[in-house]
Amino acid sequence: MPDATVLEKLVSLCKRRGFIFPGSEIYGGLTGTWDYGPLGVELLRNIKTAWWHDNVTVREDVVGVDTAILMNRTVWQASGHEAAFSDPLVDCKACKARFRADQIAESQCPRKPSKHPGEFTECQLTEPRQFNLMFKTFVGPVEENAAMVYLRPETAQGIFVNFKNVCDSTRIKVPFGIAQIGKSFRNEITPKQFIFRSREFEQMEIEFFCKLDTSMEWYQKWRDERFKWYQDLGLKGSNLRLREHDEKELAFYSKATSDVEYLFPWGWGELEGIAHRSDYDLQQHMKFSGKDLSYFDDETKERFVPHVIEPSAGATRSLLAFLCEAYGEEEVEGETRTVLRLHPRLAPVKAAIFPLVKKDGMPERSMAIYKDLQRFFQVFYDEKGAVGRRYRRQDEAGTPFCITVDGQTAQDQTVTIRDRDSMKQERVATDKVRDYLFDRLGAQG
Ligand code: GAP
Repeated sequence: MPDATVLEKLVSLCKRRGFIFPGSEIYGGLTGTWDYGPLGVELLRNIKTAWWHDNVTVREDVVGVDTAILMNRTVWQASGHEAAFSDPLVDCKACKARFRADQIAESQCPRKPSKHPGEFTECQLTEPRQFNLMFKTFVGPVEENAAMVYLRPETAQGIFVNFKNVCDSTRIKVPFGIAQIGKSFRNEITPKQFIFRSREFEQMEIEFFCKLDTSMEWYQKWRDERFKWYQDLGLKGSNLRLREHDEKELAFYSKATSDVEYLFPWGWGELEGIAHRSDYDLQQHMKFSGKDLSYFDDETKERFVPHVIEPSAGATRSLLAFLCEAYGEEEVEGETRTVLRLHPRLAPVKAAIFPLVKKDGMPERSMAIYKDLQRFFQVFYDEKGAVGRRYRRQDEAGTPFCITVDGQTAQDQTVTIRDRDSMKQERVATDKVRDYLFDRLGAQG
């Protein structure tokens, strides 16, 4: 069973150490929004960089785009979001709170938290009605219906509407994918569980275009590869699963869908969906735009509308999973050590450099190492307080290595390097420190 107190401890650690702050905090906050601090922004950037590297940079068959958040309203009519991207909502006329009708059993009555909404004598719940999750805004100075647009609720549609542009401007051939990382917005009725369900969040999506007859093969490949990606970055066997949707769960156009799920402190939650979307999206955009989005295969001389496999991940949601997995507490010399065992690729700071004491040339030698490493890695210099306390601060930040310059350094040009997880130290020649880190962190450190 997951430890339910971990979430509370993580929220506090994230605030205290500058990973994640509540959005607009000094004005009382804005529910469902979060701000990423100095450590959080590095962690999020490392997740996105790892995803881009592994899914775009090292593949010949995937290219990237970065499309506008505001799109022509017809996009969302074609995709089906305007008509159907909604959740069932119930209002309580007594306390004015709103709940998702399908989550009443997991919600609390604000006036009587021991009861579910509708169970307390004063509750007056309305009948459920559909609530569209897209945020609206206006383009230009006139706030009229014709100028209304939505903030995108997913990055995927920016890819579909550029399918022809990418085909026409590159030499890439089907089967191939288009990837995008970016912000998405959903007016969630009940944002909850820290950053898990937010109103503003980041997605990492791929639309992989292929021929119908090979599409199930591509679906299998993508679902296996995407599952392995999370494992490679440290999410362990028993906390991670791949769940195939049954017939009833499938969207009407989908031939198959699986979710990568993580066992969060409150239970299983989706990190990524891998869906076989058939040719639904391109067909819809052909219908609504009147443009031909079919593909002509030069070799076989065939013209067809590609089918699509869509691995769709949440960057911010996976950040929470990586934090939950990494969080640990242990007794060390009579004190509790809090440690984030983040995968070195994801760790916000790769190494910290300390002079043991602030004298005898140690700060100068440490600073020289710091300046050298800074050109290649995200590193941190710290000379304040007892060295044991400095180690603990780096453990909490998830820093894999701490490099200390001590009295011996002046004599034999070596430093100690302490490993975050084992807490073991070894002496390494000063001029080998950079290679030591490259060996353990890789070129993407
Ligand atoms: N284009 C398909 C699509 O958007 P989705 O299942 O709605 O599919 C994909 O979203 C991923 O985006 C989810 O698996 C989740 O990781 C993330 N996500 C969705 N809604 C979110 C929210 N409100 N807050 C944080 N992440 C969210």
